[in-house]
Amino acid sequence: RTSSILPQSIDMCAPWVAGFVKSPLSETKLTGDTFELYCEVVGNPTPEIQWWYAEVNRADSFKQLWDGARKRRVSINTAYGTNGVSVLGITRLTLEDSGTYECRASNDPRRNDLRQNPAITWIRAQATISVLQKPKINASDQIVLPLETPAKQVTLHCNLTTAHTPHKDTFWMKNGNEISNTRADQRTTISKPRADDSGEYMCVYTFEKAPNANATIEVKAKPHITHHKRSENKNEGENATMHCKSVGYPHPTWTWRKLDGESYKDIDNSTGRFFITSRDNYTELSILNLDITTDPGKYECNATNVIGNTAETTILRVRSHLAPLWPFLGVLAEIIILVVIIVVYEKRKRPDDIIEDDEPVGPAKTNSTNNHKDKNIRQRNTK
Ligand SMILES: *[C@@H]1O[C@H](CO)[C@@H](O)[C@H](O)[C@H]1NC(C)=O
Ligand SMILES: *[C@@H]1O[C@H](CO)[C@@H](O)[C@H](O)[C@H]1NC(C)=O
Ligand SMILES: *[C@@H]1O[C@H](CO)[C@@H](O)[C@H](O)[C@H]1NC(C)=O
Ligand SMILES: *[C@@H]1O[C@H](CO)[C@@H](O)[C@H](O)[C@H]1NC(C)=O
Ligand SMILES: *[C@@H]1O[C@H](CO)[C@@H](O)[C@H](O)[C@H]1NC(C)=O
Ligand SMILES: *[C@@H]1O[C@H](CO)[C@@H](O)[C@H](O)[C@H]1NC(C)=O
Ligand SMILES: *[C@@H]1O[C@H](CO)[C@@H](O)[C@H](O)[C@H]1NC(C)=O
Repeated sequence: RTSSILPQSIDMCAPWVAGFVKSPLSETKLTGDTFELYCEVVGNPTPEIQWWYAEVNRADSFKQLWDGARKRRVSINTAYGTNGVSVLGITRLTLEDSGTYECRASNDPRRNDLRQNPAITWIRAQATISVLQKPKINASDQIVLPLETPAKQVTLHCNLTTAHTPHKDTFWMKNGNEISNTRADQRTTISKPRADDSGEYMCVYTFEKAPNANATIEVKAKPHITHHKRSENKNEGENATMHCKSVGYPHPTWTWRKLDGESYKDIDNSTGRFFITSRDNYTELSILNLDITTDPGKYECNATNVIGNTAETTILRVRSHLAPLWPFLGVLAEIIILVVIIVVYEKRKRPDDIIEDDEPVGPAKTNSTNNHKDKNIRQRNTK
């Protein structure tokens, strides 16, 4: 009933009867929720798709469904290409929406001839939708975390007050993730609240053969900046990037300012070199093509949410183009100074050397002719 496999030998141009590629699936839903049923068919020519409905225990009397029916809660979206695809959606479900939903498809030329038995000209696929009364949960109101010291413990409660059937299990979630060790607890405790503990908490009750029931408790806290750079050192002409990261729920809106004299002022972007990108708990300030005269200074990121605000600063230092040469120039200067010292020292040393060369005249060398010359020189000198 749900799918048709085409024999390889079939001529794709010749007419062939409709078959289901995808048929609607039965589901259990809760009042107030939404459901969608999918139906996809093939055939040549492309089959027409219709949706029909029969109340519980009245499977003999189907009525056709139209887009916009049931006070506009019903929507039908159909697209015909090589396949026919249709989606039936019903929103804000009530108990009366329970029943059998049927996708009908046909490419039989006689399909709308009232004398024909539709059971012969249309193929059909059914799904049963059961709508149950949504369970009621009495949950704590939203809270603002007290972040004072000494820390004050906070407890979140949920009570399942009415349910269609007894619940199977219960657990807690924070920001969409299950909190471990909370199975079977109708309450959860934050013993030493920090900004990090804020977020969307949810208690979830599970049932044997029905969707989960849940309630959300918003736990809010002033933002707290957990990461930022204390300083950024760059050369002129380079790009600088500063960032801040926060915890605290709801996520803050971010602003960047620059210290101007005594106070922080909005950044002057007349040169168009400043770019701010912020997403939830993260913000980034980029400055392109750094200017050594206007850009250095103290920059502040400021996180503000409904509970409060907080800020952190980064010092931006910009070095001149020549800065990278300084170590090299230093070494060069050292070499030059060393050479100068050696040269000067050598020059001052030379007259002494001559005298010293003259002095050590040992008795062993007395035979040498040089010594005679030396003696002559000395005699000349001593005159
Ligand atoms: C929910 O719980 C609060 C506190 O225990 C109570 O005052 C209130 O009446 C309860 N509401 C319902 C609908 O049960
Ligand atoms: C849940 O029920 C318990 C007792 O049944 C009660 O003490 C508590 O206040 C209730 N909490 C809420 C949020 O209704
Ligand atoms: C919470 O309830 C909503 C509405 O019934 C449902 O769509 C959602 O899937 C539930 N979430 C969880 C985690 O059970
Ligand atoms: C600075 O950023 C701009 C734009 O992102 C890029 O085109 C440029 O190459 C960067 N300059 C340097 C020195 O990294
Ligand atoms: C920031 O938010 C993202 C999702 O928006 C989350 O995955 C991440 O853990 C958060 N980081 C901090 C430090 O809270
Ligand atoms: C600065 O100016 C540039 C160019 O006009 C623009 O693209 C950018 O968004 C501006 N930055 C800020 C923080 O306003
Ligand atoms: C952050 O910005 C808000 C709104 O502009 C302002 O009221 C607050 O004083 C700023 N906080 C700090 C610490 O600068």
